[in-house]
Amino acid sequence: MPQRNILLIVSGGIAAYKSLDLIRNLRKQGDCVRVVLTAGGEKFVTPLSVSALSGTAAYTDMWSLKDETEMGHIRLTREADAIIVAPATANLIAKTACGIADDLASTLLLATRKDTPVLFAPAMNTAMWENPVTQENIEKLKARGIRMIGPETGDMACGESGPGRMSEPETLLKALNALLGSGPLRGLSAIVTSGPTFEPIDPVRFIGNRASGKQGHALAAALATQGAAVTLVTGPVSLPDPAGCATVHIETAAEMKNAVCAAMPCDIAVCAAAVADWRPEHSANQKIKKTEGEPPAPVTLTENPDILAEISRSKNRPKLVIGFSLETQDLVENANIKRRRKGCDWILANSVHANADTNDTPVFGADSNTVYLITETNQELWPEMSKTKIAEALVARMIKTLRPQADGA
Ligand code: CTP
Repeated sequence: MPQRNILLIVSGGIAAYKSLDLIRNLRKQGDCVRVVLTAGGEKFVTPLSVSALSGTAAYTDMWSLKDETEMGHIRLTREADAIIVAPATANLIAKTACGIADDLASTLLLATRKDTPVLFAPAMNTAMWENPVTQENIEKLKARGIRMIGPETGDMACGESGPGRMSEPETLLKALNALLGSGPLRGLSAIVTSGPTFEPIDPVRFIGNRASGKQGHALAAALATQGAAVTLVTGPVSLPDPAGCATVHIETAAEMKNAVCAAMPCDIAVCAAAVADWRPEHSANQKIKKTEGEPPAPVTLTENPDILAEISRSKNRPKLVIGFSLETQDLVENANIKRRRKGCDWILANSVHANADTNDTPVFGADSNTVYLITETNQELWPEMSKTKIAEALVARMIKTLRPQADGA
C-alpha cells in the first residue's frame, strides 16, 4: 500500500488522549500523519507528545512564521489523502457547519476541497450532542459529504451517561481505511440490505418485525473495512450508519427494492434484511377510526417483491449473491431449498434461537448467533460467535472467492 498522508485535527475534549493511540496505529500501518491541535486540544495533549508519536511537528498556530515557511497551512489540506477530526467538539462542528475560520483547524476545514474525504469523530457531553443545534449542524456536514463516526453511548467523563463518547481508535482506523477504500476488496462494489421493513396500514400503524439490523450493518461495515464501495439499504433500526458506507434509509419493501435497483449493478449483493413478505393491499390516507360496536376493519394483504430473488435473476447479476434464512425446523434442508428457489450463491442459515443447542436467546436483537454457511457444494456449521465476527468471517470467505490472490497475502 503506498504511503498515505493523513491529517488529524485534535480539538479540545477529554477524548483527545485516545487520538494519541490513533496516531500510533496509523504510523504502524505505514501512514504519514500530520497533526493539528486546536487551542482546546492543546489543553488535553501536548504538542510534544503529538510530535514524538507522529514524527513531525504538531501544528497549532495559523500565524507561525516557521510553520508557514516550511509547510504553508493550505498545503496541509492539499497534501492530505484524508482528514480526520478526532475528537470533534460541538464547537468545531458548529464552526465548520457555518464556515467560520478563526484558527488553524477551522481554516483548514474551510479550505478543504470537496474530493478530500473528511471524517469527524464527535465527542461531547450528551446534552450538547442531543441539542437540536448540534444535530442540525451534524446534518449540514453530512449533507456536504462529511462522514461521521460515532459518538458511542456510555459513561462520560463528566459523570453523566448517554451518547457522546468518542469511538475507540481501532474503530476510527477501520472507518478511515474504509473511507480510503484500501483493502483486498478495493475496486468492488457491494449492496447490503439490513433491518426490517415497515408496511403501512394507515399513517400511524404498520406491519413490521423484530429485526435489529445488527447482522446487516456489521456486514456492510466489514465489507467497507476491506475496501469495497458499499451501499447499505436499511429499514428503520436504532443503529448508527456504519462509517465508510453510503447508507440509504427506507421504510417499505417497495422502497428497498427501488433503492437496491438504483444502486445496481454491483459485484456483491448481501440480503440480510428481514423484508416483510406481505404488505396491506391498501394503506389508508387517514388514521382508521375504531367504531363502537363494529368489528375491526379487515386488512387484506398482498405479496411484496422478493428482492433477493430479483437480484439473483437480474440481467446484471452480481458475481456473488448471498441471502439469509431463518428457520424453526429442518434448518439446512429448508435453507438449501430456499437457496435454489431464490437463485443465490450462498445462504447463511440460522435458527430462531441464537444458540442452536439450548434453544434459548431469540436471535432478534441478540449480539451473537450460530449459523450454517450453505453453498452449492458445501454446508458448514460455524461455532457460536458475535454478529461482528460472523460478518468478518463471511467477508473473509468473499475475499477468498473473489480475490484469491489477495487472500493470505
Ligand atoms: N428476502 C428478500 N425479499 C423478500 C423476502 C426475503 O430479499 N421479499 C430475502 C431476505 O433478505 C433473506 C432471504 O430472502 O436474505 C430469506 O428470507 P425469508 O423471509 O427467510 O424467506 P421467505 O421467502 O420468506 O421464505 P419462508 O417464508 O419459507 O421462510
